[in-house]
Amino acid sequence: MKRILVTGAAGQIGSDLIVYLRDRYGKNNVLATDIREPAEEIKEEGPWEKLDVTDASNINRIIEDYEIDTIYHLAAILSARGEKNPQLAFKVNILGTYNVLEAGVKYELERIIIPSSIAVFGPETPKDNTPNETVLRPTTMYGITKVTGELLGNYYFKRFGVDVRGVRFPGIISWKTLPGGGTTDYAVEMFYYAVQGKKYTCFLREDTYLPMMYMPDAIRALVELAEAPVEKLKHHTDFNLSAMSFCPKELEKEIKKYIPEFEVEYKPDYRQEIADSWPRSIDDSAAREEWGWKPQYDLPLMVKDMLHNIGKKFGKDIV
Ligand code: SER
Repeated sequence: MKRILVTGAAGQIGSDLIVYLRDRYGKNNVLATDIREPAEEIKEEGPWEKLDVTDASNINRIIEDYEIDTIYHLAAILSARGEKNPQLAFKVNILGTYNVLEAGVKYELERIIIPSSIAVFGPETPKDNTPNETVLRPTTMYGITKVTGELLGNYYFKRFGVDVRGVRFPGIISWKTLPGGGTTDYAVEMFYYAVQGKKYTCFLREDTYLPMMYMPDAIRALVELAEAPVEKLKHHTDFNLSAMSFCPKELEKEIKKYIPEFEVEYKPDYRQEIADSWPRSIDDSAAREEWGWKPQYDLPLMVKDMLHNIGKKFGKDIV
């Protein structure tokens, strides 16, 4: 892992991952790519290129130009946006992943990391403490593309020896870059409304439990899995990951400990059906056993850190 390409670097996870990887492996060894312009900080501190992951020739050109040996493939259309435009989700998520895997074979890449999601599960999956090995019958296009990505990654490992790895992320909460197009996005939006003294209208029911994770844990999970010795891994592309589970009402209450006047109204929309098809909590014992995964942030710690950082963004000293 000497020369790393990150796709989707302008997104919620990408913009935090780029900073972490550049710190760890050297600024010039981590190439940020995205179809959109990333933040100034990302462009100024290291190399960046515009990249549409559905364009295989551009992926290949970039790998050659920068002598890439590792890819973190984050570019994807998330669940809610995917239901608005399933054709686009299919194209970006399936073709993008296929192009990256094929590049893995062509250039004998050392490692490819492709995040998966709790969206691989569906209404028939056990909802509580969902096991790693269980029913994968998602009802969203996003979920279908993520199951496909997991299966393809395992296939490319067995068939072509490409070392593909991935975790099933829960909803990711962070303050640096807003998420876009996900069903779990409410858990980030709520903070921005609270800090700005605005009432928030939540698009999920107040009792909708979903698995969630704070960004520092998510980044550490990706990099720890990427660096784990391959002989320790029985799974490759499909590790369940867990950190915390809560419902919107619990998040509202935790935020109110710091901002008591904060108000939330609940008006579920089409995203409720997506959330209802996903687990409430996750069993991540495979990740704990095979590469020592352990989360550090629970709900109270996450809320405190989020309010501190988003408060600072708006010049407010909340925590
Ligand atoms: N956070 C994602 C979404 O809501 C789940 O992977 O789509």
